[in-house]
Amino acid sequence: MENQLLNYYKKYNISPERQNIENLSVHFEKRKKLYRQCGIPEIAFRNADILEVGPGGGYNTLAFFHWGCKHADLVEANPQGVRDMQDLFAKQHIPVDRYHIFECLIENYNTNQKYDIIVAEGFLPIIDNQEEVIVKLQSLLNERGIIVITCVDKIGVFVERIKRLIGILLTQDIMVYEDKVKYLTGIFEPQLKKLRGVSKLPEDWVKDNMLNPAVHVGKEFTLSHAIQFFESDFDILGSSPHMFTDYSWSKDIWYDYKKDYLGQFNKKRLSFLLANMPEVILPVDEANILINYFKDMTDLEAEYEKTFEADKLNEIIKLMRSADELIDRNLEEGFIKVFREIKEILLYLYKGDNIEMENYPHFFAAFGRTQQYISFVKK
Ligand SMILES: C[S@@+](CC[C@H](N)C(=O)[O-])C[C@H]1O[C@@H](n2cnc3c(N)ncnc32)[C@H](O)[C@@H]1O
Repeated sequence: MENQLLNYYKKYNISPERQNIENLSVHFEKRKKLYRQCGIPEIAFRNADILEVGPGGGYNTLAFFHWGCKHADLVEANPQGVRDMQDLFAKQHIPVDRYHIFECLIENYNTNQKYDIIVAEGFLPIIDNQEEVIVKLQSLLNERGIIVITCVDKIGVFVERIKRLIGILLTQDIMVYEDKVKYLTGIFEPQLKKLRGVSKLPEDWVKDNMLNPAVHVGKEFTLSHAIQFFESDFDILGSSPHMFTDYSWSKDIWYDYKKDYLGQFNKKRLSFLLANMPEVILPVDEANILINYFKDMTDLEAEYEKTFEADKLNEIIKLMRSADELIDRNLEEGFIKVFREIKEILLYLYKGDNIEMENYPHFFAAFGRTQQYISFVKK
């Protein structure tokens, strides 16, 4: 099966996963927080046998060594990612007997070993064969082992996809890839600076989010899909954002908390719209109408990229107008301001006018909760 993400990385010899790790202890704290939200304390990594799939340049892997894992097997199919990882580990003086890098697809990785912890962050949503890969990962897990995966939601990427639409439109006459990257980095670097905690290099953010054709490839892979893929032989440990509550009595071990979580997911999903947005909880019917609006707008963005047909912009504007009343009624002021600015920007672009993103301060500083992480433990 074609892996468009890898085709793209290989075409340009890139592994756009580099992070600013000048302050390593801050980097480790960020990783610790992610796993704490996922219900995994640092001590769980001590002496653990770990499999990481798609580690890219290995920046996140450093935390496992720091927390005292026994050994890490790293399956990375991108040659540039493998080179970056080797350089990084050498620079960080990671002893070579603590890890093994396998330069291959996870689909082709064969071993009799089972792992205590499997981490597969940032790639399931952008491949076509999610189910096949998940079954494979499940088969490699020890009894009572832990697995962490990443989901992407069309609600969480809405703001980013509008930024992408603008970026693609502004660079449609630039033919050389590196020139596009440079131009867009100039535009988006100041925007990324507004988001506290960003560690990815702006240039790599542009390559991975603004110019990566694979973002439109995979089937939507939400937290809800993930929960349904991991059936009765797995328990949910936690998620980031930490969005699920469970009021069931601890002794009621028969309680179907997964069903409850799936219900909560639909009601709370619009909270992904902005990274710093307070929780939104809506009645399911109302939430579903809004969710469909955002999905349709995100799908139209993907279509616009293929054709550059102004009609697609107009269709997005029309959907935004139809959703206006529902958004004003249900969502908080911060998002309403962003939404208004997006509408104005798209209207200008539709008319063929130029825009300056600095003139839209709310949209300028806005980012969605683009990725969600969830962890499971094998019963
Ligand atoms: C978006 S990056 C995520 C990097 C890192 N895990 C993170 O979360 O920052 C996805 C990584 O998965 C790798 N990858 C994609 N498909 C793969 C596959 N089928 N098997 C192994 N690695 C794969 C890519 O080469 C890339 O390094």
